[in-house]
This record gives sequence, C-alpha cells and structure tokens, in this order.
Amino acid sequence: MIRLIGILVGLAFTFTVVWAFGWGAAAVIGQGYLVEETAEHEFHEHPKDVNFAHDGAFGKWDLQQLQRGYQVYKETCSACHSLDYVALRDLAQLGYSEAEVKAEAANWTVPGIDPNTGEATTRPGTPTDYFPSPYPNDIAAAAANNNAIPPDLSLMAKARHDGSAYIYSLLTGYQEQPAELLRRFPDAETGVGLYYNPYFPNLNLAMPPPLSDGQVTYADGTQASVDQMAKDVAAFLTWTAEPTLVKRKQTGWAVLGFLIFATVLAWLAKKQVWAPITPVRRKD
Ligand code: HEC
Repeated sequence: MIRLIGILVGLAFTFTVVWAFGWGAAAVIGQGYLVEETAEHEFHEHPKDVNFAHDGAFGKWDLQQLQRGYQVYKETCSACHSLDYVALRDLAQLGYSEAEVKAEAANWTVPGIDPNTGEATTRPGTPTDYFPSPYPNDIAAAAANNNAIPPDLSLMAKARHDGSAYIYSLLTGYQEQPAELLRRFPDAETGVGLYYNPYFPNLNLAMPPPLSDGQVTYADGTQASVDQMAKDVAAFLTWTAEPTLVKRKQTGWAVLGFLIFATVLAWLAKKQVWAPITPVRRKD
C-alpha cells in the first residue's frame, strides 16, 4: 500500500516536471507566435551603450561632470522633479568648498515659517536643508503635467535597470514615431500630450523633451549639446542614488586583498600544524 502511494506521488512529481519543462520549451521555441505581438514588444529599445568614469571595478567620480550634471538638474529638471533624499550639504562631495555650498544652498527657495506670524512662507536654503520640491503636493504636480506626476529623481538611477545609461538614453531618445510602427499597429499612435521615446517601456511618456542644445551655459566652458547634458545629468543622478558607489568599489578591493592574504596565511598555518605528522605507509 505504502509502496503504491509512493509510486503515485512520484508519478505526480514527474508529470509536473515534464509538464513545466514542456511549457518552458514551447515558450522559448515558439517565442514568435506564442508571445503576443505589441508595439511595446517590437519597438522598445534597451539603453544605449554609454561609458561613465564611475563604471567598472576601478570607477571614479568625474567631479567636473557631476558639477555640470548638478547644473543641468538645477536649471532644467528641478522645474518638475524633486530630489527628496539629497541634502544641499551633500553638494560638498562634488568638490564645492564650504562657502560655495552655502552660496549654492541660498540659491534654492525652501519652505519656511514667518517668525512673527508663524505663517508658512519661504526662505533661502541653508546647507542643512534638503532639495525643495517643485510642487506643494502630488495633485498640483499632476495638474501641471497632463496628469502624470514627475517622479522623484533621487533614486531613479537605482530604480531602473542599467540606470545611468537608461536616463541618458531616455533624454536623448525622443524621436518621430516610426512609420513602420504605425503601419503595423495603427492603434499605438502617440496620444495628445505624450511624446514617443523607444527607451521608455510603453514607448510614450508624458515628459516633454527637457533638453535642447545650448540650454545651459556650463561654468567650465564645456559645449552644452543635448548629448553632453544628458550624460552629465545621468552621472549626477547616479551620484544622488548612490553617493558611496566609488567608496564601495574601493572597499571591495581592500576586502579582496585581505581575503587573499588570509587564505595564504591559513594555508601556511595548515602546513605548519601538520608538519610533524608523517603519513602512514600502507602495506599492500
Ligand atoms: C516639464 C516638466 C519636466 C521636466 C522639466 C523634466 N521632466 Fe522628467 N518627467 C516629467 C514627467 C511628467 C514624467 C512622468 C512621465 C510619465 O510617467 O509618462 C517624467 C519622468 C521622468 C523620468 C522617469 C522615467 C521612468 O522610467 O519612469 C526620468 C528619469 C526623468 N523624467 C528625468 C528627467 C531629467 C533628467 C530632467 C532634466 C534634464 C527632466 N526629467 C525634466 C516631467 C518633466
């Protein structure tokens, strides 16, 4: 009896495995006709190949670039996007001196309280303040942006796959909707108030192209092409998402070095401990 139950359970398991394998294999082989053909599936593109100084195991911040990216954020993106998790004092990490951070903070207008009446008002920022939001609340943000709330950008580079390259690609990816797309998917025409961008997962987003050539005048004289600004602000947003990125990579190397050293030490210790023991010779 027990044996019979065992056999039945075994058969059930085998059947499940074969069934699952069959479906998996069918999905892989038949990708063309099993997966529904949609405009998103056919025309969505992966982020472009773009290199940053902070890439790779030996990556380092390019502070000049981060400062330029900050300038792009300040003069363009901050009109719509908040940076809730970043404090103005953090700008010191971009190579600004204490006086410069203070002056920079004072350029921002943050919510304050009137000391005489206690009423809500605004005041110039100080280094201890966080970046102020452009809108008082989500309803105001949605009302100003065709019902789409511009997301907070502090962690955006972490929230999207291949974040730095994604932000760069999104900002440089606006284009005309391809005729091929409209021919095959007439229903997928970009709606009113939306903009076609193949790097955005559903191809149409509510953000108008935020950059145009020469939009900012860089303090360091760099030519402000769309490509350059997109790259700079993508680098800046990578920093806001993980200010400790470079330190993390450097710590990794130190840890690796220590582990190799510890391994050699353990091996030498093992040799020392076992040295007096001579192997017993087997008599065959
Ligand atoms: C006029 C307002 C406006 C400006 C200026 C603006 N954005 Fe946006 N942004 C939006 C809106 C609205 C959305 C939401 C789009 C949607 O969900 O369709 C958005 C979405 C985004 C997203 C998220 C895309 C995603 O995957 O969800 C990123 C990244 C972004 N913006 C970056 C930037 C950067 C960088 C700048 C500055 C160069 C900038 N934006 C300037 C309005 C703006």
